[in-house]
Amino acid sequence: MRKFLVTSALPYANGPLHFGHLAGAYLPADIFVRHQRNNGNLVRFICGSDEHGVAIMLNAEMAGQSYQEYVDHWHKDHAELFRQLEVHFDFFGRTSAKYHAEETKDWFKTLFDAGLIIEKTEKQLFCIDDDRFLADRYVEGTCYVCGFENARGDECPSCGEWIDPIKLKNPRSKVSGSTNIEVREAKNFFLRMTKLEAEYTETFKQKSVEKQWRKLVTGYVNGMLKQGLEDRCITRDLDWGIEVPLPDQPANKRIYVWFDAPIGYVSNLKQYFKGANIDEDYRKDWWQANDVELLHFIGKDNIVFHSMIFPMMGIGSGYMKFVDDVPANEFLTLAGKQFSKSSGWYIDAKEALDIFGVDSLRFYLTSIIPESGDTNFSWGNFALNYAEFGNKIGNFVHRSMSFIYKNWPDGLPGSAFTQFYQSGEAQKIDEKLKSVKELLDRKLIVRAQSELLNLGQLANEYFQEQAPWKQCKEDSAKAEASLAGATIFVLALTVALEPFVPSVSAKMKQNFSALFNKEGHCEKKEFRKIYQNGIQTYLPAFEKSGFKLHSPPKVLLPRLDPDLLASWEARL
Ligand code: 2FM
Ligand code: ZN
Repeated sequence: MRKFLVTSALPYANGPLHFGHLAGAYLPADIFVRHQRNNGNLVRFICGSDEHGVAIMLNAEMAGQSYQEYVDHWHKDHAELFRQLEVHFDFFGRTSAKYHAEETKDWFKTLFDAGLIIEKTEKQLFCIDDDRFLADRYVEGTCYVCGFENARGDECPSCGEWIDPIKLKNPRSKVSGSTNIEVREAKNFFLRMTKLEAEYTETFKQKSVEKQWRKLVTGYVNGMLKQGLEDRCITRDLDWGIEVPLPDQPANKRIYVWFDAPIGYVSNLKQYFKGANIDEDYRKDWWQANDVELLHFIGKDNIVFHSMIFPMMGIGSGYMKFVDDVPANEFLTLAGKQFSKSSGWYIDAKEALDIFGVDSLRFYLTSIIPESGDTNFSWGNFALNYAEFGNKIGNFVHRSMSFIYKNWPDGLPGSAFTQFYQSGEAQKIDEKLKSVKELLDRKLIVRAQSELLNLGQLANEYFQEQAPWKQCKEDSAKAEASLAGATIFVLALTVALEPFVPSVSAKMKQNFSALFNKEGHCEKKEFRKIYQNGIQTYLPAFEKSGFKLHSPPKVLLPRLDPDLLASWEARL
């Protein structure tokens, strides 16, 4: 049994999540986790809300709410969205919680005591009209790399440069719009990347080759290493965030959000174990354990933190092993343009899930996970994808099961399965199943899904070729063998669909419940055995008891209403 510690980027509790987030960091992780659980591995799947930072403060102020009220609202909203999408974390925690502050302070102190966090005086922008230092997100200006006029104080959204606010051209305060800004000396704490760089670089090179990290990630890191690293300022002058755990600090000194956010993965695992009475040590048994495979699923805008800064914090503190992979995805656009709530260019994910249901959306979003380049959401392609799902899988399952239910009310005999297994078709099914699983292992989820559709295609071709509706008129044993074959295809699809569309798979499992419950077997275990070993190992069970449907098969994929679809398209 392997052990996996899987995280999805903690979403900011700061406005609705859109399909780009879902396809980028949450759905792929959920599919991977379900796959590994079906494989019989032990997985801890951790997420939570990222509740600090200036962006949240600015929006809470604008909404006329306290910071806590504001993040409470969005935390609840996101948890509900994940429930709807059937993204099932073991724990969805919060960075404004006390347990998280404790863990963060522990990391800070340990790094400080090791000389890896030091206090330095540096130059910062000070706004005379606002009478305050302008922390990164409180300032905007022209990017000194690409000339983009609305670069933020931490990052340029146009060229992706990690911005040093002092160097911004024409800086202006985001609080007041004032340009009455000067450079003053300020005291802050710095993470000594310069001291951590050597050990980090060695481990990174080794690990990324060994585990075949994506080029998107290694390219970025290598670029950064080539430039050479600088110590990073990890405190801010704010009144929302975690306090510096050292004596005599100014009242408004807080730890920078990007220092505490990734520690949220750690504190949330700790809190999960505590609440669920799991008697394991979150550090020794998980975060520091070398037999654990640690994976961070993220979008490409978070690469630097997950592949460099957080691992360096781990090296320095000794509190975590080196990350095994950072499967970062690119961006998803909406009909060719970036999602943007403020300009109305977005889709309300919750409402869409209410209307279209989780299965069609999960299936489509999976097909456009931006694994190897930016991808695009469109309602037209959503409809096409759903039609393909129906044609290759849904219709076949419904047609074949209904045919058996209607024409073989007493069930298929065990001998029909013996006959089918002799045909060699079962081997082909297992090969496809294996290839879906191998792709999922490599986190190539889009390709795994198309391999799953290929399995459906194979099932259709088999059913069409055999044509049991004709065979039954001449040779009923032959028809029975074909229907046994169709049943085996349905079973293989049932297990293979689980990571992608768990509800569809659950509906299909009902067809087999009589079979698997017979000797008091736990069903879930049986399906997992098939997922792990393939359907060929299951012949004895079918030979022994044959196959009978006890109730009419349910419709798997209800039709899409074209008018409804058109109305959603028109909304954009
Ligand atoms: O980009 C974001 O949405 C961040 N809130 C991601 C944080 S990931 C982790 F480090 F917590
Ligand atoms: Zn730029």
